[in-house]
Amino acid sequence: MLVSAKEMLEKAVEGHYAVGQFNINNLEWTRSALLAAEEAKSPIILGVSEGAGKWMTGFKTVSAMVQAMIEELNITVPVALHLDHGTYEGCYKCIEAGFSSIMFDGSHYPIEENIEKTRELVKVCNEKGISLEAEVGSIGGEEDGVVGMGECADPKECKMIADLGVTMLAAGIGNIHGKYPANWQGLSFETLDAVQQLTGKLPLVLHGGTGIPDDMIKKAISLGVAKINVNTECQLSFAEATRKYIEAGKDLEGKGYDPRKLLKPGADAIIETVKEKMELFGSVGKA
Ligand code: G3H
Ligand code: ZN
Repeated sequence: MLVSAKEMLEKAVEGHYAVGQFNINNLEWTRSALLAAEEAKSPIILGVSEGAGKWMTGFKTVSAMVQAMIEELNITVPVALHLDHGTYEGCYKCIEAGFSSIMFDGSHYPIEENIEKTRELVKVCNEKGISLEAEVGSIGGEEDGVVGMGECADPKECKMIADLGVTMLAAGIGNIHGKYPANWQGLSFETLDAVQQLTGKLPLVLHGGTGIPDDMIKKAISLGVAKINVNTECQLSFAEATRKYIEAGKDLEGKGYDPRKLLKPGADAIIETVKEKMELFGSVGKA
């Protein structure tokens, strides 16, 4: 069932685990993520960046595909369809397209403007029963054209955004999109702790979930992180499995070039990666 992310995240905060957001790129990706969630009996958030939305033809196509897939695959676990790092305009497009959750990434605006735009979106989302994620500070690196400097969030600004009534808050705590560089300093638990002290039980979001060591993930969950975003790791698993298939020459044997055969190892690899992450985040069996 397509639902807002509010209830699943509140339960995660209470239960001291996190729900994974897995970004989708096409039909196979979506199917794999949904099948993994159903097998793991875990709630799931499907993330769609604006770039991925365009790649899949548009947000309406994505929304229709996800809703039909939930029905035809008999998915019983809660599924939220979430805009990832949305622009102000993108948020409205996704609301219209039937997304159940959106992220407004106003982190590159001066804080006053981030507050004003987020305030307006809180009102719209509340009227429609849609969950809303906001961002303060920034996530380092680049994801689908969204570039961040990686500065840690100011906990007081986090409190100002939290008080607007957002469903969840992404605070930059030294996390980075994509692969982490060898000289990465690690997550700033000091910042996370200070943000949690001021925002209480508000579900906190950890972006850049690929490659963060397991012990840091667990510590972040213990400090209020209830949603963890994973994108690159599924891409790496997909690419590796597909490369193996091609390097073994399997695309040349029989009808190995049939896209249904060619894409299957990658799609299966995504299922495994998603299930491993759900295990690590503690959401298995929580649906
Ligand atoms: O918004 C999506 C994520 O923050 C994913 O980050 O590609 O490093 O896993 P990642
Ligand atoms: Zn992100």
